Amino acid sequence: MTAPATRPQTVAEPREPSSGPLLSVRDLTMTFPGKRTLTGRRSAPVRAVDGVSFDLEAGQTLGLVGESGCGKSTTGRMLVRLLEPTSGSVVFDGRDISRLSQSALRPLRRNIQMVFQDPHSSLNPRQTVSRIISDPLLVQGWSAADARRRAAELMELTGLIPEHIDRYPHEFSGGQAQRIGIARSLATSPRLVIADEPVSALDVSVQAQIVNLMERLRAELGLAYVFIAHDLSVVKRVSDRVAVMYLGRIVEIGDKRSLYENPQHPYTRALLSAVPLPDPAAERRRERIVLLGDPPSPAAPPPGCSFHPRCPKAQEVCRTERPALRPAASREVACHFPGD
Ligand SMILES: Nc1ncnc2c1ncn2[C@@H]1O[C@H](COP(=O)(O)OP(=O)(O)O)[C@@H](O)[C@H]1O
Ligand code: SF4
Ligand SMILES: [Mg+2]
Repeated sequence: MTAPATRPQTVAEPREPSSGPLLSVRDLTMTFPGKRTLTGRRSAPVRAVDGVSFDLEAGQTLGLVGESGCGKSTTGRMLVRLLEPTSGSVVFDGRDISRLSQSALRPLRRNIQMVFQDPHSSLNPRQTVSRIISDPLLVQGWSAADARRRAAELMELTGLIPEHIDRYPHEFSGGQAQRIGIARSLATSPRLVIADEPVSALDVSVQAQIVNLMERLRAELGLAYVFIAHDLSVVKRVSDRVAVMYLGRIVEIGDKRSLYENPQHPYTRALLSAVPLPDPAAERRRERIVLLGDPPSPAAPPPGCSFHPRCPKAQEVCRTERPALRPAASREVACHFPGD
């Protein structure tokens, strides 16, 4: 294999001044067909993601938050085209990538990479770190020697010891394995990284280290992130904007500071009430809003506002009319009665 004439740089390439956001997602929807049951009948289709729209500027981070099963991973997988959306569009740097064929997508793939939740299960146990990190480069035509050199550089960049390059994943702790996953995602100098709960599987003591690493890399490399998490505390540090999802839909999206200081949707308020406060006096006063029951199944969403069976503010209209995402308090909220 021959080395390409120019090697991708560590820092994201300078771009032409863009007229629009780096990523623009419109009405993204994913319906999984129902599964065949033992009696031969099909269960109801699952609308895992239902009309999700947002923009993300270059170099910025959108936190995507919601309980397990609300459609975060499915959204992330559609953004990197591991899943083909049922409908809607994903425009990356001015180009709709949601319907491109795999061959048309190939040259664009290096720009959007993914970091997964469970570092160990997302790394091939039979490959060395050198191979794992080099793989995306070998696919792009790099020589084995150049790809190995670059893998060692990326190990250093992500806080790993380059001398460990010939070790296997099981020889690393969870936090170190996630650093390998991050190094692999950066190999092709992407402009956008979709991080799907990158710290959820790690010990609490290690979570902050990985969040700090990702924050440093974003600043140094000019990356944009979609940072997925199931609670609001994890994304607070890294996000510029935050989107809260419930049962396949965004229910509140806006600037981080105003969303944390003044949440408008009852679901956001409940999620936020679960986040411990650093000030001990405020922490003692913190009132927890405990939601009743589990989220309903996306195969049979409740009519009207899908949050109404668990909402402390629900009224009659909530049971029949689905609230659209509308401007409220300098952000967008899908609720008939936003605010206090
Ligand atoms: N391949 C699939 N086939 C059928 N249903 C799926 C599939 N992947 C996810 N789902 C369903 O879609 C919903 C959203 O899942 P997911 O995106 O993984 O949520 P999250 O990442 O927020 O926990 C869940 O109800 C899940 O069971
Ligand atoms: S629309 Fe009604 S049920 Fe839904 S979140 Fe708002 S108040 Fe609650
Ligand atoms: Mg998930």
